[in-house]
Amino acid sequence: MEPKEYTAWDPKYLLNIKKLDNEHKEIINFINDALKHCNGNREEEIKYFNTRIQIILKYIAKHFSAEEEMMEKTNFPHYEEHKAEHGKIFISVVKIMTEIEMGKREIDLLGFMQYIRKWCLEHILTHDKGGVEYFKKWEEQNGK
Ligand SMILES: [Fe+2]
Ligand SMILES: [Fe+2]
Repeated sequence: MEPKEYTAWDPKYLLNIKKLDNEHKEIINFINDALKHCNGNREEEIKYFNTRIQIILKYIAKHFSAEEEMMEKTNFPHYEEHKAEHGKIFISVVKIMTEIEMGKREIDLLGFMQYIRKWCLEHILTHDKGGVEYFKKWEEQNGK
């Protein structure tokens, strides 16, 4: 089996925006929990996938909406770009889920979670962090 690549929370992921930081921590917890369940027992992994993945994806979708709302409220100049990134990952995930439902693809809990993990961490470090300076300035000028 491939390494599970747990993600320890690291200050480098901090945006210093409490709500979003808490949500990012929760997303990392979800991913770590899923990776913990990649135990090589196919039946158990499929059961985990079928019962947990929708919950994880819903949480991520809600988080994206929260970020998009904040970007809209503050007239963030890279709103469209950032929103498009959220859309891109979601479309690719929905494609995988649909292929599984149609029987065109087998459930691969480890591969799926590694994919989500890689994308989420990269996204936090680039797109989410990229907005922080702007949001701080906006807050200073407009209050919370
Ligand atoms: Fe985020
Ligand atoms: Fe984001």
